[in-house]
Amino acid sequence: MVSDTQSRLATGTRDALIEEIAARAGVRAERGRRFAELTSLRVGGAIDWVVFPETEEQAAAVAGAFAKTGIAWRVLGAGSNVLADDAEHRYVLVSMREVKGEARFEGERVSISAGYSLPRLCVEAARHGLSGIEGLGGIPGTVGGALWMNAGAYGHEIGQVVETIRVARGGRIEKVPGSEVKWDYRHTSFREGELLLGATLQLRPDEPEKIKARMEEAKQKRFATQPHGARSAGCFFKNPPGSGLSTGKMIDEMGFKGEKRGGAVVSPMHANFIVTEGEDARAEDALALAEEIRERFRREHGIELEYEVELWGAGGVPETKDEGGGTRDEK
Ligand code: EPU
Repeated sequence: MVSDTQSRLATGTRDALIEEIAARAGVRAERGRRFAELTSLRVGGAIDWVVFPETEEQAAAVAGAFAKTGIAWRVLGAGSNVLADDAEHRYVLVSMREVKGEARFEGERVSISAGYSLPRLCVEAARHGLSGIEGLGGIPGTVGGALWMNAGAYGHEIGQVVETIRVARGGRIEKVPGSEVKWDYRHTSFREGELLLGATLQLRPDEPEKIKARMEEAKQKRFATQPHGARSAGCFFKNPPGSGLSTGKMIDEMGFKGEKRGGAVVSPMHANFIVTEGEDARAEDALALAEEIRERFRREHGIELEYEVELWGAGGVPETKDEGGGTRDEK
C-alpha cells in the first residue's frame, strides 16, 4: 500500500489520487483557486487543489485519506486570520466554510460545526437567551477558526465555554472534552494535522435583551476603534503576553499609522491592523511592512513581536505519510 501510494505519487498520478479521494467522499474538488479569493486580506498565490466538504463526516474522511496516502493538506475556514504568500501553494486546501449545518440548541448548550459563522452564532445565542460569547459578536470568521486559536475580545474567549470539541483523527470523529484542551491567549494545544470539526458550547442563561445590549456595546467599540470593511486579518501581532501592553498603541506611538508599502497599509484607525488596498496588493507588501515594524519594535522596545495572523508559506507542508497539514486560520 505504501509503495503503491508512493509510486502513484512519483509517477504523477497524485492529481488522480486527490480526485479519487474527493469523489469517494462525495466532496467537490477544485483547481485554479487563489488565496487572494479565499482570504480576507485578498492576497496570496495559487493553490494546487481546494476541496469543499459539506459535513463533518466528509471533512474527517478526506483529511484522513490525505494523511494516509501522504498527500499534504491544510485547513482554511473563512480565511480571516491568514496571510498566505504569493507563490504557488502545492498542497490540498480543505476549506471548512461549507461545513456549516445548523446551530442545534438544547437547554444551555449549542452544538455547531466548524464552518458556522461566528457572528451568526453570537446573534443566535443571544436570541436564545444564552450568554458567554457576546463579546465575540462581530469578529469575522468561522467557529472552527475561533476554536483553533481561542479567539477572544472584550472579556470573552471561546475556550471558556467549550464543553466538547469534535476533532478528526485517523479519518474518524473524536470527541475531546474542552477541559483537556489548553486554551491560551490566542493559542491552543491543538496540533498541526488535527482538524477541528465542531463543538458543543455550554452557555449561561440570561435575558436576551441584556445579552444583545452587551453584544451591541462590544460591536460599537470594535467599529469605533478597528477598521471594518477594509481588507484585514484582524490584529497582526499579539500583545506582549502578560505585560498589559497594547501592541497597537505602541506601533501607533512609533508613528506607523498610515505607513504604506506597495498595497499594504498600517490602518489609520488601529495600528495593529495591516490592511491591503488595490488590485496589485501582494502578500510580500504586507510581510515587508510587518517585518519593518517588528525590526523597529525590537530595536526600540527590546521586544520580539509575535505574529497573531498565521503566515502560510507555499512550501510549508511536507508530503510525508500520516502528516497532514493542519495549520489553520481562520477566525
Ligand atoms: N490604541 C492606540 N492606538 C492604536 C490602537 C490602540 O492608542 O492604534 C490604544 C487604545 O486607545 C486603547 C489601547 O491602545 O487605549 C488598547 O487598544 P484596544 O482596546 O484596541 O486593544 P488591543 O490590545 O489593541 C485587543 C485584541 C483585539 C481585541 C481588542 C478588544 C490582541 C492582539 N488584540 O486589542 O483582538 O478586539 O483587544 O478586546 O489581543 C484580534 O485578535 O485580531 C484583535 C483585533
